[in-house]
Amino acid sequence: MSTTATRTFAVSPSSLSSNTDTTDKDGSLHRYTHLSTPSEIASTHFDLSHIPPSEHAQILHDFILVPDYLTPEEHDMMVKGATLKLKRALGKQVRYEDGHFDGVITRYRECSAGDWSSPFSATTSPSPDPFSNNDKKERTTPREMMDAIKSDFFPSTWTWVSPHILELEAGQGGIKPHVDHLDASGSVVAGLCLGSSAVMELIHQDDPQKWFRVLLPKRSFYFQRDSVRYSYKHGIPIEPEDHQFRGKVVSKEKRISVMLRNALDPSLHPDRPSAMY
Ligand code: OGA
Ligand code: MN
Repeated sequence: MSTTATRTFAVSPSSLSSNTDTTDKDGSLHRYTHLSTPSEIASTHFDLSHIPPSEHAQILHDFILVPDYLTPEEHDMMVKGATLKLKRALGKQVRYEDGHFDGVITRYRECSAGDWSSPFSATTSPSPDPFSNNDKKERTTPREMMDAIKSDFFPSTWTWVSPHILELEAGQGGIKPHVDHLDASGSVVAGLCLGSSAVMELIHQDDPQKWFRVLLPKRSFYFQRDSVRYSYKHGIPIEPEDHQFRGKVVSKEKRISVMLRNALDPSLHPDRPSAMY
């Protein structure tokens, strides 16, 4: 059931289409290309003190944070849905794994949620302003939520891999710095932050002196793309006392993320053997 058919653009698509980078009919590529984290949000949720000022704009373009993307009701609905999925996939027992197969994640439970999202983009209309949930229609199922994310932020022509649910235990649940597998998904790694705020640390792969932290509040949506997705490792400090934002410890309750990644575009990897033959 589609409940979002009445949503429209704040800026009319005809005015968007005068831009040269608008190659799709609905303006979604234009919106995606020009999106940046607003400076008011950067000043309260980003610690860029170890990044040269000349690179701040690029980081805020390639790491988008929307603090109140979910209403409290939508948040609770997503927590319920994710908890049910984990229970169905893993059984009733709440047993956290101690290490990922490659040792990246500690004290976690995870599963995939293929039926929450089709590989194709949603046909729903984007919210007028995805940074504010004032005039959004409430999304009442996880699938409506994933569709809303796709249409609010991403080009309508994109395809997607199955969403992934990750639950981190209160206290020691965390993620060591890593770059998501290059072979498994494309240029965007997006997530909904549920249950507890999290501090994400991003460290430049070639220059570890260059790092930044983002405070991801409960009910936020975020994504990393392009230069941040490929040049920075990301993680969530494991030790509760290291889970700090601007010198203040942020308490680690049980936290669930719903991760959404776009599919790898084979045409962008002409040097890959599978594309050569
Ligand atoms: C991951 C990851 C971040 C998050 O699952 O690879 O980095 O917000 N997750 O949970
Ligand atoms: Mn990751």
